[in-house]
Amino acid sequence: MKKYNTPLIDDLEKGPWPSFVTEMKKAAKTNEMANDAVGHLEKCYSTKVGYWKHGGIVGVLGYGGGVIGRYSELGNEFPGVAHFHTVRLNQPSGFFYTSKALKEICDIWDKYGSGLTNMHGSTGDLVLLGCRTESLEAIFAEYSSRGWDLGSSGSALRTPSCCIGPGRCEWTNYDTLDLTYALTQEFQDEMHRPAFSYKFKIKSSGCACDCVAAIARADMSIIGTWKGDILIDQAEVQNYAKKGMDINAEIVNMCPTQCISYDGKAMKINNAECSRCMHCITKMTKALKASGERGATICIGSKAPIVVGSLLSWVIVPFIKVEPPYTEVKDMIRKIWDWWDENAKPRERIGEVIEMKGMRSFLEAIGVPPQPQQIKEPRKDPFMFYTEDDIAAYKAKEAEEKKTGKYKF
Ligand code: HEM
Ligand code: HEM
Ligand code: SF4
Ligand code: SF4
Repeated sequence: MKKYNTPLIDDLEKGPWPSFVTEMKKAAKTNEMANDAVGHLEKCYSTKVGYWKHGGIVGVLGYGGGVIGRYSELGNEFPGVAHFHTVRLNQPSGFFYTSKALKEICDIWDKYGSGLTNMHGSTGDLVLLGCRTESLEAIFAEYSSRGWDLGSSGSALRTPSCCIGPGRCEWTNYDTLDLTYALTQEFQDEMHRPAFSYKFKIKSSGCACDCVAAIARADMSIIGTWKGDILIDQAEVQNYAKKGMDINAEIVNMCPTQCISYDGKAMKINNAECSRCMHCITKMTKALKASGERGATICIGSKAPIVVGSLLSWVIVPFIKVEPPYTEVKDMIRKIWDWWDENAKPRERIGEVIEMKGMRSFLEAIGVPPQPQQIKEPRKDPFMFYTEDDIAAYKAKEAEEKKTGKYKF
């Protein structure tokens, strides 16, 4: 095996944090593809050229996506990366694996691919980096014989992903794991046979902490919420105070809707004003908990800036029941896709189409009435207006805060 001299990328092994260069070098000891990937990366650094090509469509029979075709222009110099396709494996909901399953995945990958993995890609899939076109069918056959399926890529429903939800987390408002599994099964065709204008991602978080960052990354975010009051255990509130928590500064003043009060003895919450942001509950886990009916808020539209600028999701459905067999959620998804399909040009994400065609057309098509919760962007509520006086008062407050160094919330 050729030994590459890599002074430039060696620099990325310095420092206290883990280094992907170290990991690539480990794989390179036994794998020709990984070894050439190391040499290739050094070359990219020294010449400041990428050399990677997006390479048309490669895949396995019957599937339109799941493999991302990649080639290097320097195939002669680095034969191990001449083909360097990425295989997506559909991850289990919440990323739970046994070590036996992980070893099995890696053994198959060592046999056919570079041995390099990415756990997990932004899509949520377990990503296997670097293999040749002629190995793809064999790879698929081995993985599927052990119960794994390819994830999704291309203009399709991308592999749905979710937070660990009820697997470990007491804050979840619905079973994110089960919903993600159910949607993956229901929409197999939409995942494996790309028929959309562009990609569509569904990500599910059990509460507003949004551990899968759905709100910024998914065309459709399903974020858990509740309808009842936040229950308060006043003795535990006192315990937090005794242990040194400054309840006014850390909880009351940080509540975005200013609906909490605390007089040193008892905490009160005006639940009608609470936006279910989770701040107080995450800070005072022992004292506060959600109650009442559970479900989710559906937000639509986020995306990264590829064609035009990035977008954050919009609240579309303030509350929806999320219970097996998830008929309400599935029906809503189908209506959303129907409208998108009718109106999108190639490579337009749903958020862009809503911007272009307008929220009215979208809401009419999916049968959701306009509601005050459908805020476009935080702090830019279309139903709120600021007068000259409001702005003057705000500026005066800001000036005073600057002078005194004390912040008024
Ligand atoms: C100096 C070189 C590199 C740097 C600084 C770098 C840095 C990064 C960073 C910051 C991320 C985002 C991680 C996250 O937020 O989840 C990322 C993702 C990724 N990197 Fe690298 N990387 C480098 C080289 C490579 C190489 C050589 C490969 C492949 C052989 C690779 C494959 C990937 C993949 C597949 C992802 C995931 C993309 C996604 O999640 O959508 N990277 N990289
Ligand atoms: C101008 C160049 C490139 C652009 C603009 C680009 C853009 C992107 C974007 C937007 C994604 C996310 C796709 C998604 O949402 O699933 C992605 C994923 C990915 N790209 Fe690229 N890419 C570029 C070059 C490359 C190259 C040269 C390689 C490899 C040689 C590569 C490998 C990958 C892989 C493996 C993923 C999937 C990671 C995952 O599953 O999360 N990309 N790229
Ligand atoms: S999003 Fe909420 S429910 Fe899901 S793991 Fe995070 S904190 Fe728990
Ligand atoms: S959940 Fe958020 S909005 Fe509701 S009371 Fe707590 S901090 Fe305020």
